[in-house]
Amino acid sequence: MSAKRVLVTGGAGFIGSAVVRHLLADSEAEVLNLDALTYAANLLSLQDIADDPRYQFRRADICDAEAMQAAFADFRPDCVLHLAAESHVDRSLTGPQAFVQTNVVGTAVLLDAARNYWEQLPESEQQSFRFLHVSTDEVFGSLGDEGAFTPTTPYDPSSPYSASKAGSDHLVRAWGRSFGLPTLITNCSNNYGPRQFPEKLIPLMILNGLEGIELPVYGKGDNVRDWLYVDDHARAIWQVACGGKVGETYLVGGGAERDNLTVVKTLCALLDELAPSADIGPREGLIRFVTDRPGHDFRYAIDASATTESLGWTPQESFESGLRQTVQWYLDHQEWVEAVRTGSYRNWMEKNYAWR
Ligand code: NAD
Ligand code: DAU
Repeated sequence: MSAKRVLVTGGAGFIGSAVVRHLLADSEAEVLNLDALTYAANLLSLQDIADDPRYQFRRADICDAEAMQAAFADFRPDCVLHLAAESHVDRSLTGPQAFVQTNVVGTAVLLDAARNYWEQLPESEQQSFRFLHVSTDEVFGSLGDEGAFTPTTPYDPSSPYSASKAGSDHLVRAWGRSFGLPTLITNCSNNYGPRQFPEKLIPLMILNGLEGIELPVYGKGDNVRDWLYVDDHARAIWQVACGGKVGETYLVGGGAERDNLTVVKTLCALLDELAPSADIGPREGLIRFVTDRPGHDFRYAIDASATTESLGWTPQESFESGLRQTVQWYLDHQEWVEAVRTGSYRNWMEKNYAWR
């Protein structure tokens, strides 16, 4: 099955923009990018494909039921890739309500709009319709030193972010089981790569390291994450949408576990090599151990073997080459970096998309 009209929610975000690019480059689908343009959105990331005749953008909030009904009625998708979310764990600790609103309520509103639209379709179109919800490995909680998450690992979220994503996963399954909406879920590990908002570990360390300011490592830096290059995730999402079994859960991971201190030290070495600075000196000197994140999950690791066996998906990028490419991307895109650093990317979006 290969969908022809794909509605991507959150397509102006980090992973969503990679998904939009992937669809335009490696499929023949028409793409509607539906995004509320929160602080995390950046349409500069899509400027080079904005005029593609197969691409359109619509500014809308997934919590707005009327706007969602209208988007389905106008675009008539045969596939929804749902990525819109509040995505940063630290923000969920200081302002959890926005996470409940978008991730839980917004997902329910979107599911209702999808269901109402889907129920009006002829039977053959109902059967081929897909609603893929993009979720996170954080719903499974924390691992100790051993083991890995599988599709049957029980849910045990720790943060308001992961609890809200867990809630959205349950809603998606419920709309599948109760109403027959053809849903699928992916749970993925930590993504990194170009165009990631610099609140997350890797881009934050790159930008701080370039500026010569402190690199804050939570606790002892011994927490472990399983890193996946963002384009590998985009490919996985599309493979699951096209070939996955309705009702199933697919785990997606990089098979690249690293503790945070190792990640930060690797970035320091790359910055010293690719952007040496006599004024700043060796970047490792900028590392500061700071107060730990409350409820900080110790370790995440994904067993993606079931996804590989059923769909043939495997990550293509190694952590070392992916990280080097990522650092180089930020070095080569100072305009993007400055727009984010100064906040001017928001003015650009308001000016260019104010009427939508
Ligand atoms: P992001 O924060 O970079 O982008 C989120 C996008 O959603 C933004 O463009 C934002 O404007 C949009 N959005 C937020 N609220 C909205 C609303 N109410 N209505 C419409 N649009 C809204 O996030 P990301 O890192 O690209 O993550 C995308 C998805 O993938 C999320 O669902 C996240 O939970 C999931 N995920 C992320 C990772 C990761 O490592 N970043 C890993 C696994 C899963
Ligand atoms: O596992 C998937 C999840 O990965 C996604 O669902 C989330 O959307 C995404 O944000 C990410 O969550 P994390 O909390 O793991 O990512 P973050 O980049 O915020 O932090 C990665 C690790 O680095 C984590 O152990 C906390 C630590 N950290 C983070 C920041 C921002 C630091 O030590 N210092 C920092 O300044």
